[in-house]
Amino acid sequence: MPRKPFICGNWKMYTHRAEAVALAEGTAKAAADTPGVEVGACPPACYIEAVVAAAAGTPMVVGGQNMYFEPKGAFTGEIAGPMLKDLGCTYVILGHSERRHVFGEPDDLIARKVKAAFAAGLVPILCVGELLEERKAGKTDAVVRRHVTAGFDGLASDQAAQVVIAYEPVWAIGTGETATPDQAQEVHAFIRTLLADLYDARLAQAVRIQYGGSVKPDNAHALMAQADIDGALVGGASLKVDSFGAIIAEGAKAKGV
Ligand code: PGA
Repeated sequence: MPRKPFICGNWKMYTHRAEAVALAEGTAKAAADTPGVEVGACPPACYIEAVVAAAAGTPMVVGGQNMYFEPKGAFTGEIAGPMLKDLGCTYVILGHSERRHVFGEPDDLIARKVKAAFAAGLVPILCVGELLEERKAGKTDAVVRRHVTAGFDGLASDQAAQVVIAYEPVWAIGTGETATPDQAQEVHAFIRTLLADLYDARLAQAVRIQYGGSVKPDNAHALMAQADIDGALVGGASLKVDSFGAIIAEGAKAKGV
């Protein structure tokens, strides 16, 4: 089965309500115009409901940017998986580098969230990737191995096959610095070998692996033309319909869909 390309916006802590709705409408139109690519967005939690409403009747999917692993309880400020599901989310980003490095989320916490996402009926977009000093020290493979192994810990293969991985080298996020297509492809191929070791070759071929980190209209084609790059997780360039639409069109061209 070929892997359906998946291009998802990560709006982070940006947009107001009216902007979120307008952006959702434009993204939903791009999704409808490009049926060969799965198109989604992860808005701030407070606008998820408005974005889901704007996307209704279109193929656009919506995700959360984070969640807590408990389904409910006295956890002030947190949002639970069942709440995201209830709002209409399909996906949830977990282990984003800003969660790991700004908020100090460790691997074991992220692993609990992955399991809780499935328990809530959500599909995790599990982010992995090395810091610049880790790359310079030749530790990229070791860091990615740790993130993938921890993130998939205890997952049965039927769930593991559904996880979307986003390889996001931290030095490329929001910096304008992109991994070259070859650098990205190398890590994506490495992730498939890890999955083959953890599960089997079939599963390794089934899992979708997005690239993320300064994806723009002018580099999207070369990145997504790589054999093991199945789409993109897009921050800054997903906040404008023009640039996100262009990335989706480039991805569709690169994948021939
Ligand atoms: P960026 O962000 O596209 O702005 O680099 C990507 C991400 O953080 O997912």
